[in-house]
Amino acid sequence: MAATGSAELRDVYEGQYRAGDADAARYGRWRTLCAEGKADHVATLAAALENRPRSLVEVGCGDGSLLEALASRGFADSLHGFDISERAVQIARRRGVAQRVERFDGTSLPAVADAYDLGVLSHVLEHVRDPAPLMRETARTCRALIVEVPLEDNRSASRPAAQQGREAIGHLHRFSRADVHRLASDAGLQVIGELADPLPLRVHRFWAIGPAARVLASGKAVARRALFTVAPRTAERAFTVHYAALLTARS
Ligand SMILES: C[S@@+](CC[C@H](N)C(=O)[O-])C[C@H]1O[C@@H](n2cnc3c(N)ncnc32)[C@H](O)[C@@H]1O
Repeated sequence: MAATGSAELRDVYEGQYRAGDADAARYGRWRTLCAEGKADHVATLAAALENRPRSLVEVGCGDGSLLEALASRGFADSLHGFDISERAVQIARRRGVAQRVERFDGTSLPAVADAYDLGVLSHVLEHVRDPAPLMRETARTCRALIVEVPLEDNRSASRPAAQQGREAIGHLHRFSRADVHRLASDAGLQVIGELADPLPLRVHRFWAIGPAARVLASGKAVARRALFTVAPRTAERAFTVHYAALLTARS
């Protein structure tokens, strides 16, 4: 990605949420589909908490698709979202599922310490040049934090074509599981639960156009799932899986 400054980065995200694009509806369906898996991950990890989270904040909530998927599961009584993109915030607000959705400067959240039972940083840290301060700031506002990122420090994601794809969608980092653990530790947090997901068939097939591409995508999805089932850590080093961790303050 050519953008280097904060304002340029914000413009990149504004562009991604542009309404009226020929592809906008398709991207919307893509986000809705992905949000289902992300909401499953949040629900699975949060089940380990002593008390059911009643308030949740999603930082980098984008168009609110994850907030909506969580709302449809009846997850938490109060949902708040913050993002740096005004367009994203407007779309998220229009969903009418969150009590508060606001733009913020990407640095300081307008919330007191421990304002929320649970914070979520879903597919945001890989977009942020210096992810540690955002993780610390989000952790300040909540008693537990779920972070989800794609683990892209793997062989498949090292290919030049994959590198181009990542740049096009604004990924500034290729995280490994150890990177996330280190970020958490540096923020004074401990990992109390974690999961990885090689993603379901419908996600792998979503962008495949035409029968040949769909067969290829299906084969890839089945092969990845098979390797992941027998040797999850080998799979993690071979291709990208989504990784989510539940973090709390280090005791
Ligand atoms: C890939 S989207 C993820 C949206 C949503 N969390 C999800 O999982 O569907 C990344 C989002 O991070 C936002 N973002 C980028 N930098 C940010 C920052 N410093 N603070 C908060 N959000 C940021 C972008 O505007 C974008 O909406």
